[in-house]
Amino acid sequence: MEIREANDDDWPQIYSIFRETVEEGRTFALPENLSLEEASPLWMETPPAVTIVAVEGDVFLGSAKMGPNRPGRGSHIATASFMVDPAKQGQGIGRALGNFAIEWARFHGYRGMQFNAVVETNGPAVHLWEELGFKVLTTVPGAFDHSQHGYVGLHVMYKSL
Ligand SMILES: CC(C)(COP(=O)(O)OP(=O)(O)OC[C@H]1O[C@@H](n2cnc3c(N)ncnc32)[C@H](O)[C@@H]1OP(=O)(O)O)[C@@H](O)C(=O)NCCC(=O)NCCS
Repeated sequence: MEIREANDDDWPQIYSIFRETVEEGRTFALPENLSLEEASPLWMETPPAVTIVAVEGDVFLGSAKMGPNRPGRGSHIATASFMVDPAKQGQGIGRALGNFAIEWARFHGYRGMQFNAVVETNGPAVHLWEELGFKVLTTVPGAFDHSQHGYVGLHVMYKSL
């Protein structure tokens, strides 16, 4: 598996993971049924943020994006988002992308990393982020309308770098 910066030619393959993930309605508070063009600015970042992909040859395994959580005087804290192809989850790809994002943020001098909206019922994500050193700071009750569970909380998670 190789993790590298994404380029515009990668977007159609990333979009297929994006679309499937968003339409499951379990993990991301993003609009559904977005076209390739509409979804692109929601995932393909511009500097100083970056979008990365995990690939094995021609096969796209997952993607992540990271950059400043806030502009200006909040820009020393990073944020990141992750999506692994649903058919390839549970094989360590998310962990590799998470470690890459943390190292990227450290290298660029960020002082911490904040996840703004981790769905509390998203067991694999909460487990993985805690293993990578993130703590749940608070949970906004009922902030996510889950496709199966209805209104569930969104964790704010943080790791000092
Ligand atoms: C969350 C996500 C990025 C993790 O990626 P992944 O490649 O599946 O994760 P990994 O295989 O690297 O590791 C997942 C960890 O969660 C564990 N896990 C898997 N299913 C689990 C479950 N149902 N409950 C608890 N832990 C679970 C795995 O055992 C592993 O932990 P371990 O290494 O201690 O055994 C991926 O599942 C995903 O893209 N989900 C949909 C989108 C999403 O939730 N993004 C993150 C939003 S905050």
